Amino acid sequence: MILVTGATGHFGKLTIDFLLQKGISSTNIVALVRDEARTADLKNKGIILRTGNYDNYASLVSAFQGVEKLLFVSGSDIQKRSTHHRNVVHAAKEAGVQQVVYTSFLGKNETTSSPLWLVAESHLQTEAWLKESGMDFTILKNTLYMDLVPAFLGEKVVETGVIYVPAGNGKVGAVLRTEMAEATSTILAGANHAGKTYQFVSHEAFSYKEVAQYLSEITGKTINYISPTATEYAQTLAEYGVPADFIGLFSGFAIAQANGELETIGSDLELLLGRKPTSIKTFLAQLFGSPKNQQS
Ligand SMILES: NC(=O)c1ccc[n+]([C@@H]2O[C@H](COP(=O)([O-])OP(=O)(O)OC[C@H]3O[C@@H](n4cnc5c(N)ncnc54)[C@H](OP(=O)(O)O)[C@@H]3O)[C@@H](O)[C@H]2O)c1
Repeated sequence: MILVTGATGHFGKLTIDFLLQKGISSTNIVALVRDEARTADLKNKGIILRTGNYDNYASLVSAFQGVEKLLFVSGSDIQKRSTHHRNVVHAAKEAGVQQVVYTSFLGKNETTSSPLWLVAESHLQTEAWLKESGMDFTILKNTLYMDLVPAFLGEKVVETGVIYVPAGNGKVGAVLRTEMAEATSTILAGANHAGKTYQFVSHEAFSYKEVAQYLSEITGKTINYISPTATEYAQTLAEYGVPADFIGLFSGFAIAQANGELETIGSDLELLLGRKPTSIKTFLAQLFGSPKNQQS
């Protein structure tokens, strides 16, 4: 039996859909949910539902009974994430789970000097707990979701003709979340992945200067890239009413990119998917191109 945590979120839901597409029976898939109100589509697909919260250790031990493989989708509450993740790992061990597949984070700088240390710290701790646990583990080092690039560009990027991100000339090997989920389903449905760490990165990395160039080609409008200082960026976002937590996260990712911490590329994902992941150019054309562009 395969249990997927975060099953009402994007990554968990997508992975369950890919497991079903691969022919895994819904009666062999368990979804861990914390909010019964959001489970209608999982119920319709015949997925087994169990209630649990990363906050509540006993709920996790109970939900994990009889589970062989557990897809542990990392939690979204960064402040409490270490405590939550320790609960999940210890509960899986206590419940007798054989293998944990964990969605971790990839950055070249895994020290406190990284602007993304707030994000990275709990992931690195979780990797260490899994390795110490005695359970089989598979670590997925996930790069930035390509799906988040439009948030960095802003809703009015074509209208203003400006991309304003403090990422300098740094590059990122971002990948669509759905392709990470598809590869994750291959790992869960297959064998021989225990003890392995995969880098979920693209075969190519891109800068915002390149994004500006692609967007100009796709839309026929000139889009310029400006890389402000971190302080200018934070001030501008604050003036537009962006909450402080988001400013911290956006700045952290952009500055890490500027530092070269996100430029890792590789072939793990390509091998698991059996094709190259979607390029940024294709993704931008799908989002910003005319119907004619999208078909080409
Ligand atoms: N690589 C990247 O660029 C990137 C970007 C953003 C996030 N992430 C990480 O990747 C994870 C998955 O991404 P996503 O897009 O699927 O995020 P998401 O849509 O926000 O899903 C997160 C899931 O975790 C569940 N969850 C959060 N706290 C929980 C708790 N205390 N107990 C039980 N379940 C809990 C949520 O439950 P509810 O549905 O009930 O809220 C949700 O199902 C995120 O949680 C985050 O750690 C990565």
